Formats: sequence, C-alpha cells, structure tokens
Amino acid sequence: MMKRFDRRFVLKALTYSGLSCLGIGWSLRASGSRSDRKLEITPSEIEGPFYPRVKRKDKDFDLTRIEGRSGVAKGKHIIVEVQITDIEGNGIEDALVDLWQAAASGKYNHPRDPNPAESDPDFQGWALAVTGSEGKLRFKTVMPGAYPAAPGWQRPPHIHFKVSSAGYESLTTQMYFAGQPLNNLDHLLRRKRKEDQVRMIASRLADNPQTFLHQLVLQQLVS
Ligand SMILES: [Fe+2]
Repeated sequence: MMKRFDRRFVLKALTYSGLSCLGIGWSLRASGSRSDRKLEITPSEIEGPFYPRVKRKDKDFDLTRIEGRSGVAKGKHIIVEVQITDIEGNGIEDALVDLWQAAASGKYNHPRDPNPAESDPDFQGWALAVTGSEGKLRFKTVMPGAYPAAPGWQRPPHIHFKVSSAGYESLTTQMYFAGQPLNNLDHLLRRKRKEDQVRMIASRLADNPQTFLHQLVLQQLVS
C-alpha cells in the first residue's frame, strides 16, 4: 500500500537520526542561488535485472521491518533523506518514488538473482512512496551489500530509484554512497562524467554518519 509520510515512522526516524526537525541537514545544492543557477538533471542509469517481482504488501518507509514479522533486517541501519526537485531547486510534491535495493548481504529479493549470498527474510527491499512537502522523502533501510555483477566486477552499495511525476520526465537512476571504495571501480558509475558521478553519490550527514542526503533533479516536460 502506497503511503505518504508515515507520521509514526517520521518520529521514529527523527529519534533514530537525532534530528530535531525535518528541515535540519537538508541543504539543497542550489539553495541560496535559485534565481541565477540551474541544477543539472540527475543522470539516468539502467534499471538493472532485479526490479522486484515478488509481490509484497508492505512497501512502506521502514525497510528494516516487514509487517507481520517480528525480526529486524540484518546489517547497518541507515536513514536516507531524498529530495525530488526541478532544475531550480523547487521541491516536487506528490512525486511517485519506487525504490529497491539488495539486502546487507548483497542479495536481492528476486528469483533470478544468482548471488549465492544469504537472503534476509526480514528485509523489505522495496518501497513505493509519494514525496511530501518540498518534495522530500525519508526512509529507513540497511546499507546495501556489494554484489558480484561479472567476473572482476563487484557492484558498490547502491539503491535503485524510479521517479515519476506529472509534468516531468520520468527518471530511472541509482544512488551510491559517499566513502565506498568500490565506487571508483564500478563500470556503471565510472562511465559517467566526474560531475555526474558526484550527483549520483549521496552525502553523509556530518554530525550523523548513519544519515545520507540525496537530491534527484527532474526535467520538466515542455508543454
Ligand atoms: Fe543493483
């Protein structure tokens, strides 16, 4: 069931991250200069082979728990704060955000994932959400594991996103994490321009290393 911000989760997330309000730590890269500087569109990336196929009712903002199960997802729990904006930095409310990722082991909940790593039955792995005020979305998940994509190629931790909103071009992309040594070796990320790589890597909140910030910029459709 798709939901807007779940208030209970937001409170839980705030407690978890130590933030006192949603606005703290959210610094648009274009803030303060909206009038004279346009943002670059977030680079697109392939969807990859592991878009969820297994139906699951629970697709909410807390990927570390599954409704009806008592367990908690294995791995390092993190908070990801995403803001969807246009090229002027204006938040896009009601954008549909479809995201999926591997568990901490690197295994996807997908029948065709050949990775022999252990799957995590307590990890949700997939969320469908709608952005709230100022185009913001905040979710709790685990740091995805790296996984083998081909001989000699280990994919760095990443989260897949598909974003759509009326009036904008849909965006399929992947988000990486600052500080991951595999980022520099990834065949997908490395083929991007340096400045585009920067746009695809979430930054870590300085005073809370469990929290990552990311911005996705959509292209407005020409009417
Ligand atoms: Fe992937």
